[in-house]
Amino acid sequence: MRRKVIAGNWKMNMLPNEAIEFIQSLAEKVKHSEHEVVLCVPYTDIFYSVLNTQGTNIKIGAQNMHWEEKGAYTGEVSAEMLKAVGVEYVIIGHSERRQYFAETDETVNKKLKKALSVGLKPIVCVGETLEQREQGITIQVITGQTEKALDGLEPEQVEKVIIAYEPIWAIGTGKTATKEDANDAVRQIRKKIAEKYGQNTANGVIIQYGGSVKAANAKELFEMSDIDGGLVGGASLKVEEFSNIVNYN
Ligand code: PGA
Repeated sequence: MRRKVIAGNWKMNMLPNEAIEFIQSLAEKVKHSEHEVVLCVPYTDIFYSVLNTQGTNIKIGAQNMHWEEKGAYTGEVSAEMLKAVGVEYVIIGHSERRQYFAETDETVNKKLKKALSVGLKPIVCVGETLEQREQGITIQVITGQTEKALDGLEPEQVEKVIIAYEPIWAIGTGKTATKEDANDAVRQIRKKIAEKYGQNTANGVIIQYGGSVKAANAKELFEMSDIDGGLVGGASLKVEEFSNIVNYN
């Protein structure tokens, strides 16, 4: 039985004092959750967030990382640095990073290998554009991104990867994939993993849905057979809304 992982992605929002207030309030509201609750916060909030989640069931994630351990990479943060400050999860290859910061399938693959090697739990994002959906190539695009992200990994490493299926046209737009379409896309990703790494491995991989998840649609999405929770952007900035998503059942 796969566990549901419900992760907030704060993107470039929340000052440290806001993060602390949010976490203290959220901790109380989700303390009985059986789901894995994660907040992926900006780098500048990590230290305070890790401190304030001690003794709670909230885990802290980052939103990006570099694949090298250290060196002359001005402005970058390594997996080792994240690990040392208490981060457990890291988002890799979010569509905003692919779109605005030249993230490619190749860099996603490098970052993923690095994250696994230091024991961070990666959340790898895949998803099609509206144009690709209209062309009828959604499944090809998302299974292709998945294949390239996982390239060179052993099945026991693949099992540790979380994949977030996030149709780009649904991110921040208020448009959500129908629960059937989202579940079908997730199922196709799982099928591709089964082809390459075996059915047992595929059955263990957590695959989330992301894109305009809110309290009003979380239950119908998360109750689908293959959807193992969600990656939540805008709705993770409001403590009431996010806790209602976590407590959807
Ligand atoms: P959204 O963002 O929930 O605001 O659509 C999701 C994401 O980008 O992970």
